[in-house]
Amino acid sequence: MKQKFFTKQLLKWATTIDRPMPWKGEKNPYFIWLSEIILQQTRVEQGLPYFLKFKEKYPTVHDLANAPEDEVMKLWEGLGYYSRARNLHFSAKHISKELNGEFPKNYNEILKLKGVGAYTASAIASFAYDLPHAVVDGNVFRVLSRCFGIEIPVDTTEGKKEFNKLANELLEKKQAAKYNQAIMDFGAIQCMPKAPLCSSCVFKKECIAFRKDKVLDLPIKSKKIKKKTRYFNYLILNFKGDVWINKRLEKDIWQNLYDFPLIETKTQAKKEDLIGSEVWKKCIGDSDFKIQKISNPFRQLLTHRKIIATFFEIELSSDILIKKNSYIKVERKNLSKFAYPKVIDLYLKDNSLNLSHRW
Ligand code: ADE
Repeated sequence: MKQKFFTKQLLKWATTIDRPMPWKGEKNPYFIWLSEIILQQTRVEQGLPYFLKFKEKYPTVHDLANAPEDEVMKLWEGLGYYSRARNLHFSAKHISKELNGEFPKNYNEILKLKGVGAYTASAIASFAYDLPHAVVDGNVFRVLSRCFGIEIPVDTTEGKKEFNKLANELLEKKQAAKYNQAIMDFGAIQCMPKAPLCSSCVFKKECIAFRKDKVLDLPIKSKKIKKKTRYFNYLILNFKGDVWINKRLEKDIWQNLYDFPLIETKTQAKKEDLIGSEVWKKCIGDSDFKIQKISNPFRQLLTHRKIIATFFEIELSSDILIKKNSYIKVERKNLSKFAYPKVIDLYLKDNSLNLSHRW
């Protein structure tokens, strides 16, 4: 397909769709940045309410910069990939304090912000300032690999270079914002991953993948990520209406979120496996306890990991030992004030927060 034809048809297609979104036509770089960070690895329908919440709570970059980290994490809860929230907060402080609240105004300066990669920098530069930088993300890989029949794996250096080059050749430089929005919308509502709407597509005649019946084979990825499983056994230590939680400060998944005293095992654990462990000794030792309930395993998939979490509800006979630890004592009814990883949130919701009435 001719490059000019693609660009023209795509822009024309964009005028025929009705897909209003609160960040469309937005020119405030702070709001654009916010929406793009939220939408990384997140579907529009899922990200939208978060965008509105953040915009309302933090109408300027200074408001976000001055917010307590725990509050930002709580507002982010449920979106996943929490490093996005930490970087967002970090960069807001940088812009507010170091740059006097002035958002960077060109691609290279935008790219320097923590948490901003090539895709996000292009999105901000084009949407806010109409600068000629083509966005290249999963949507774009899919649309271009199919339309132009490109079979180079997208997750290789060569693939990235090739797609980046083509994307920038196709970009309508005088209408960068419109063009970038159009290709993203096209990937989202026409050329979808599993069920693309080929029969109504404006590129039906020219699309190489459609002509060769390869639509569902493209884009090609060279490696499929193999997920390693981690087994997390959480001790929910109850004593007189209190439980103990933990702030995850280590360099590991879920940094700065909260969880419970954790015993990680190599396989699915039974209670005997836990009783001899260090964490158990530190929290319970030899004192009396009663295991009230062991949950079914809860599962959470991350990019590189599968987490299997099991929750052990334990009634302590004394809080002497646990008090010596750095865990945080919380009244059970106040548990929902903290931000947790999804798997814990699921468990807490499943248990309607206050189990005591059931015992
Ligand atoms: N995904 C990421 N950014 C987007 C945008 N601006 N519009 C639609 N989907 C998107």
